Amino acid sequence: MANENLSKAKIAKNDEFYTQYADIQKEINAYLEYNPDVFRGKTILLPCDDPEWSNFTKFFAQNFENFGLKKLISTSYAVESKQIKQWQPTLFETENPNYDADKSRTNGKIFILDHDTNQNGKIDIEDLEWQYLNGDGDFRSDEVKKLRDEADIIITNPPFSLFREFLAWIVEAEKEFVIIGNMNAITYKEVFPLIKDNKMWLGNGFNAGNAYFRLIGDTSKYANGVFNDETGLVKFRNCCWFTNLDHGRRHQSLSLMTMEDNIKFSKHKEVKGVGYQKYDNYDAIEVPFTDAIPSDYDGAMGVPISFLDKYCPEQFEIITMTKTPIGNNYRTKIYNRQIQHNADNTTQSVTKANDGAVIVIKEPLINKPYYEIDGILLSAVYPRILIRKKQ
Ligand SMILES: C[S@@+](CC[C@H](N)C(=O)[O-])C[C@H]1O[C@@H](n2cnc3c(N)ncnc32)[C@H](O)[C@@H]1O
Repeated sequence: MANENLSKAKIAKNDEFYTQYADIQKEINAYLEYNPDVFRGKTILLPCDDPEWSNFTKFFAQNFENFGLKKLISTSYAVESKQIKQWQPTLFETENPNYDADKSRTNGKIFILDHDTNQNGKIDIEDLEWQYLNGDGDFRSDEVKKLRDEADIIITNPPFSLFREFLAWIVEAEKEFVIIGNMNAITYKEVFPLIKDNKMWLGNGFNAGNAYFRLIGDTSKYANGVFNDETGLVKFRNCCWFTNLDHGRRHQSLSLMTMEDNIKFSKHKEVKGVGYQKYDNYDAIEVPFTDAIPSDYDGAMGVPISFLDKYCPEQFEIITMTKTPIGNNYRTKIYNRQIQHNADNTTQSVTKANDGAVIVIKEPLINKPYYEIDGILLSAVYPRILIRKKQ
């Protein structure tokens, strides 16, 4: 159930999940460990945020001097646009001379930290200045785009329902970034080419992909064990950070066994004593588990998408990834096939796709699910990333 939550959030446009301070800290520390000056002299933009509720602004404001930041900007999205029903402005807002009861509902806010406003000798969260934006703080608005263009690094947990658009918004401006998303986003046609070309990779990550967010709004639709009443946290599986900032784990090679040793000693019954199957129509072996990648195989290997969490670009190159040949419902379409009997006594199935393409599959392959690589059908049950060992 938990693993469906991100996609449910997407459908219901429920974007009010707030990242925990410790998760931000753990992730950002991984970049600092790799390069202590990664943020020095930089302007960081935290869009889709709200310091009153979110920890991103708190974390970076508290570490402003420590990280050597030049400027911190965060923007929040208007309450009315968020479609939150029960909401009260905080004392932080109402007691500020900038407070405006109308704008408080309809406008986003901008928070800026770049100098010691209270002149107490240090720059920290107490020095954060804010005002209302002209619009609702939509990241796609011209005023937030301008802030994006001013920034060096963009960091946030963006609205899950707008992940593709949000990533495209960063990429078009060629910015550095650290953002949270669902591992499945890897398969999006806009996302995978970035990963393949090493323009984006997975960050340090949540523990085993399990992330716990503070939920604001309706909690009733979550099952026990998914939303926890005591902690106020909702659990999502398959969560990861996407980034183009370097970190150490990315350069740690996987320690792997040879093919022979895998066949002898693998902990996976699919491999031990069985070996590796070749795809029917494509010159690659199927490797069902990342830890079963044979260290001495030089050809192409189809590995699970979760491999990317362990991907070290010095150890492997990414060749491509599979896609479903005709939308998601390929198997159903296969079963709607017409069987043709050929003059040479073979049988083949002919399926006409919506786009008019004709897929011909020789028996007995038709009862297996297929994925496609560059028009070639691959007898894999799950989507696969095709990799090859670097020489
Ligand atoms: C997943 S929450 C994360 C909040 C915060 N960044 C955090 O991690 O704690 C995404 C936030 O984006 C806001 N949002 C939704 N659509 C937006 C848009 N078009 N532009 C800017 N913010 C948006 C939501 O209201 C929500 O507060």
